[in-house]
Amino acid sequence: MSGHAEAATPVDAAERQREFAADVRTGLTSTPRVLPSRYFYDDLGSALFDAICQLPWYPVTRAEMRLLRSHGRAILSRFGVPAHIVELGAGNGTKLAALLGSSAGTVRPTVHLVDVSAAALETAARTVTAAAPVPVTTHQLSYEDGLEHLRRPRLSGRALVLFLGSNLGNFEPDAAAAFLRHVRATRRPGDALLLGVDLVKPPADLLLAYDDPLGVTRAFDLNLLSRINRELAGDFDLDGFKHEARWSAEAARIEMHLVSRRHQRVRVARADLDLTLQEGESIRTEHSYKYTAASVQGLLTTCGFRVRAQWLDEPGGFALTLADC
Ligand code: TRP
Repeated sequence: MSGHAEAATPVDAAERQREFAADVRTGLTSTPRVLPSRYFYDDLGSALFDAICQLPWYPVTRAEMRLLRSHGRAILSRFGVPAHIVELGAGNGTKLAALLGSSAGTVRPTVHLVDVSAAALETAARTVTAAAPVPVTTHQLSYEDGLEHLRRPRLSGRALVLFLGSNLGNFEPDAAAAFLRHVRATRRPGDALLLGVDLVKPPADLLLAYDDPLGVTRAFDLNLLSRINRELAGDFDLDGFKHEARWSAEAARIEMHLVSRRHQRVRVARADLDLTLQEGESIRTEHSYKYTAASVQGLLTTCGFRVRAQWLDEPGGFALTLADC
């Protein structure tokens, strides 16, 4: 099975659509209005996100790639030889490819890629197998379902879990802690977590990273409404919304909003939803919390992990932290 990618874990498409409809309905009728950010990543959204990662104003991916390339070997040798690598939110697979590539073929774990996007998984499986001759299995699941599915003792042997791309920052602080505890609960002693988070930096830089001059992030944000139109028979007028990034210094987070440009009505037939939005009213699509090198370590420790090592990229303001479960 070496070098061969295999898709596992089929989930019913109709079931997925029901869940999407229910989440859209709940989010858009709550105060303030919100949409869960995992729905950004349909095939088009995942492609737009890949473009974001290449934007000169979005330093997160490049900083993390630099760390994985220059310290990948050290990271893997600190952990020891993993039987399994589980990546939650694998995206296009280039990070894991960098990590495996840095070890020059000396490490041959079984790789499990978890992502909500089928297209991203397909690309990731190809990218990873091109970088290293390892068996790859893809799981089109949310982080939580992926963790459950890949719970020990179902996986025999030690596992390194990767949670990169500052995806932890997209959880509210309480939920981030609960999530890390859940990661630990699905693991065994001997397993470890490699966590990549973006660090607090000057607000002007952060705002540009989430509202770029090319409008790619704007397109990515608006695609969420467009996806609702496509999949749930919605009638959002995309021109009726503007993309806004705001920095909250108190909360240390970037907030992404789609702000209604006028008083308008929206219908989402398959979610059985009729909305009236006022001019200036916002739908919050994402929070991206920023940490400090010390606050990540504190959080991991609070959640029961033992921090082993941390690598910082100074120019990009990014931290990779390795912690024992
Ligand atoms: N995890 C990424 C981050 O918080 C996701 C992301 C990057 C994102 N740019 C975005 C999410 C723009 C929504 C909108 O940096």
